[in-house]
Amino acid sequence: MRPKVFVSRIIPEAGLNLIREACDAEVWPEVMPPPYDLLLEKVKTIDGLLSTLNDRIDANLIASCGENLKVISQMSVGYDNIDVNAAQARNIPIGNTPGVLTDATADLAFALLLAASRRIVEGVEYIRNGKWRTWEPLALLGGDLSGATLGIIGLGRIGEAVARRAKGFDMRIVAYSPNKSKETVAKIGIELLSFDQLLQESDFVSIHVPLNAQTRNLINAQALQKMKPTAILINTARGPIVDQQALYEAVKSGIIGGAALDVTNPEPMSPDDPLLSLPNITIVPHIGSASLRTRNKMAVMAAENLIAGVAGKSLPNQVKV
Ligand code: DGY
Repeated sequence: MRPKVFVSRIIPEAGLNLIREACDAEVWPEVMPPPYDLLLEKVKTIDGLLSTLNDRIDANLIASCGENLKVISQMSVGYDNIDVNAAQARNIPIGNTPGVLTDATADLAFALLLAASRRIVEGVEYIRNGKWRTWEPLALLGGDLSGATLGIIGLGRIGEAVARRAKGFDMRIVAYSPNKSKETVAKIGIELLSFDQLLQESDFVSIHVPLNAQTRNLINAQALQKMKPTAILINTARGPIVDQQALYEAVKSGIIGGAALDVTNPEPMSPDDPLLSLPNITIVPHIGSASLRTRNKMAVMAAENLIAGVAGKSLPNQVKV
């Protein structure tokens, strides 16, 4: 009998075709993710689940999984939506898609950094609102990148890829990454600082840590207070790492210079959210990995994890608990 799997969204064909060749697949056809209650029912009868970061896979859902469920394969590198300890207790391996989205996410972090420093979105609005009458010596002045300090919080794959891009712009690169040694990062031209030092010295602070109990609200009112009044915060990691109310107040009152976010809390953000009323905050809708090539690779990787899992084999990319 072919394994029965549930794919919780329409994913790129490259992945879906692999899944359909190996399994009996039910693919959730809607744009919006499946309701939690539906997922609760599905996991009782399937051999494998392909999930996305929108699916809440908590201890309750894991407890509902039937005896047949052999794998949860998530199509993203982040898996903060999954209770991995509960899955481990049931011996259900979790797959994810590290590596393939590193460059796309680093590109977007850098796009946001450039957009915020050179006020690109404000410039577009300026034209749309009929304000462009002449070349103005004092209009829309932004910050320079060369010689500026980029502070990277979390020097994993994506943090390092952002650092490589920053080198090409002649930036000084500093990082806060407790698991790295000064010697290792010095070899790649990065200075390791304490969290507070990084906040105090950086012109741009870019977040590249996973969301967990230690990083939730890492950038809170106290942290924002330590940043330069001209500094720009960039978040392409997870929304809850930043206290959004504190960010709003910090940007509005000039404690920091601005922010550029790919992730928010909650997602989607309401169109009425006060953050959207500030001209020096740029927000895009969680598109860090949204390049064609990257999403295809993520779909294939997630499919390969799923197919290996339902066959009882070890996953090519298994989350280590
Ligand atoms: C991830 O993979 O965790 C990104 O946030 C979505 O691509």
